[in-house]
Amino acid sequence: EPLYIITPTYRRPEQIPELTRMSHTLMLVKNVHWLVIEDAAVATKQVTRLLERTGLNFEHLTAPMPEKYKQKKGAKPRGVSNRNRGLQWIRANATDGVFYFADDDNTYDIALFDEIRKTKRVSMFPVGLCTKFGLSSPIIKNEKFVGFYDGWIAGRKFPVDMAGFAVSVKFLLQRPNASMPFKAGYEEDGFLKSLAPFEPKEIEFLADNCTRVLAWHTQTKKNEPSAPLDMKLYGETNLVKLKQ
Ligand code: UGA
Ligand code: MN
Repeated sequence: EPLYIITPTYRRPEQIPELTRMSHTLMLVKNVHWLVIEDAAVATKQVTRLLERTGLNFEHLTAPMPEKYKQKKGAKPRGVSNRNRGLQWIRANATDGVFYFADDDNTYDIALFDEIRKTKRVSMFPVGLCTKFGLSSPIIKNEKFVGFYDGWIAGRKFPVDMAGFAVSVKFLLQRPNASMPFKAGYEEDGFLKSLAPFEPKEIEFLADNCTRVLAWHTQTKKNEPSAPLDMKLYGETNLVKLKQ
């Protein structure tokens, strides 16, 4: 059964390097269908070219963040319109298998994908380098689930990271109204709550009862832009400019 990987991405100098790294991970995984969804009005040519070169099964979609959220000050609901577009694609095209929200800048052990395939309804597992605690994970004591470890609980019913859970397609299809809210910081919780009826006691724990870290919330440091704007590193276009 297929594994659907829903990846939000957006135009920035780090986009091609992030997607290169991620695509090379997915090239080592069998039977994946990669849904790459850009927060942009128009698909980026360099991204399409990269996807074509990977030989992966992919969809290259666009889903711009609505203007009203873009103009908002402070934390924005990043990647939400992209992920909802991914869910829409799954509802229209998929019948079985499992899906996973995988941000373009995280790091994934290929063993994670074998784990995720076991998901019957909703599974969870640890994410390393997440929040000030350095780890976000369900806590299992004597084989029993006792709560969540996360640096930011904030009254959430499911205080987990986006990279810390997977859902079966059939389970989603039985919940036609499930979606991700445009609510910065509460995207995971809001989405998991929208899967009701679904309670924490029903979670399937993967990665040897949440004892192995197979995904990391890595973040790429941004360089100060020092070069003139037209020299900004942007994948292949930059090579053309350097040659001139
Ligand atoms: C934090 C949380 O740790 C994630 O679990 C959550 O997915 C994310 O916020 C979120 O806001 O949704 P963080 O590393 O701060 O993660 O967020 P980013 O990696 O900057 O963005 C999350 C995803 O959305 C990425 O795949 C990114 O490419 C995409 N994104 C970001 C957009 O599509 N548009 C944007 O304007 C910014
Ligand atoms: Mn990130």
